[in-house]
Amino acid sequence: MTDVCEGEWVPLLVPDMPSPQELLPWLERMHAARHYSNFGPLVRTLEAAFAQQFGMASEQLTTVANATQGLELVLQTLGLAPGARVLLPAFTFVATATAVIRVGYQPVLADVDAQVWMLTPEIARAACECMRIDAVLPVATFGMPHDMRAWQQFELDTGLPVVIDAAAAYGSQWLQGAQGTLVFSLHTTKSLPAGEGGLVVSTRPGLAAKVRQLSNFGINLDPAGNMPVGALASLGSNAKMSEYHAALGLISLQKWELYAKKRRALQDNLMHEMDQASGHTLAWQNQGTGGPLMAPTLLCTRLPNTEIRDALEQACKQAYITTRRWYQPLLQHMGALEQRCLSLETPNAVELAQTLLGLPFFLSLTAVQRQRILAVLQQVVH
Ligand SMILES: Cc1ncc(COP(=O)(O)O)c(C=O)c1O
Repeated sequence: MTDVCEGEWVPLLVPDMPSPQELLPWLERMHAARHYSNFGPLVRTLEAAFAQQFGMASEQLTTVANATQGLELVLQTLGLAPGARVLLPAFTFVATATAVIRVGYQPVLADVDAQVWMLTPEIARAACECMRIDAVLPVATFGMPHDMRAWQQFELDTGLPVVIDAAAAYGSQWLQGAQGTLVFSLHTTKSLPAGEGGLVVSTRPGLAAKVRQLSNFGINLDPAGNMPVGALASLGSNAKMSEYHAALGLISLQKWELYAKKRRALQDNLMHEMDQASGHTLAWQNQGTGGPLMAPTLLCTRLPNTEIRDALEQACKQAYITTRRWYQPLLQHMGALEQRCLSLETPNAVELAQTLLGLPFFLSLTAVQRQRILAVLQQVVH
């Protein structure tokens, strides 16, 4: 690796955003309509496309500015008492927990399944036996979909509302014929990149409409509502998706199938080559009963132990290869969160955090970059 210099860092991710040329006709369309935000024609077109994909009425979904706001507003619509306990995995992105706290609830951190790396209905049932839980917020970790029929059964058995943080799972997480609530991210790094954006899909009567109203400050826009149009119905926020972002989302939607296919092929190839380079000592996230991951956006592996993980991280750094300890430290070890969360025993999450490393994953990865990564793996792990 001595012939590689600092300017040649292999990045962790490279977004597949629409080009300026692709965007221009959409910007012209937007400008001709003189509609730039506030549920304009492009947002409506995007929402109609989503409604068709999910086979749902357009009132059952709404776009939002990002998944974090989507989660906050969905949690707000649940109308739980202040301090209500929301169960979520200890191994997730910080926004899952901050959304809960900002709405006035308390996160309860649970373990994840050792193979699927996600909070399962079984883990949630066991948590409910340990303490009072008021709602559950499982995460579709790294885009891996949940089994919605199993979560619907959990809701029926326990009476607790379940909201899936499906931020990274656009195109993988579907309702699968079950009742449920899903929140997706359309961030640049996700499978349907719109720069920033989010999507809330819910079979709960009135939930998406309420989130839509809350995303527009909480103002009543319904002429048939029981208050004048423009009156403040509830305390909302400004979490509307702009027409600019909807334009990007619409372009990305046209290319989604092709990109998802390429990403699946790249992931398969890399995993195969990395398995060989490491003497088959790596472990990968397993598919659960929710179905396959359709559009991987990152690559995470588990090393045999912490020493090897740390050595690989160090060797990558020396070879100018970017890595990331995704979702680490665990939420209970983050200074800003630890006093605000309750935590159950999380042995699988702890073990994951000690052995997991994110490696470069993007469609424009060159053969030379790939060889550099494989060479480091072979040197450290084999
Ligand atoms: C699990 C999870 N939840 C929420 C978010 C936040 O999504 P957004 O950036 O759209 O607010 C992310 C973003 O990476 C995420 O990974």
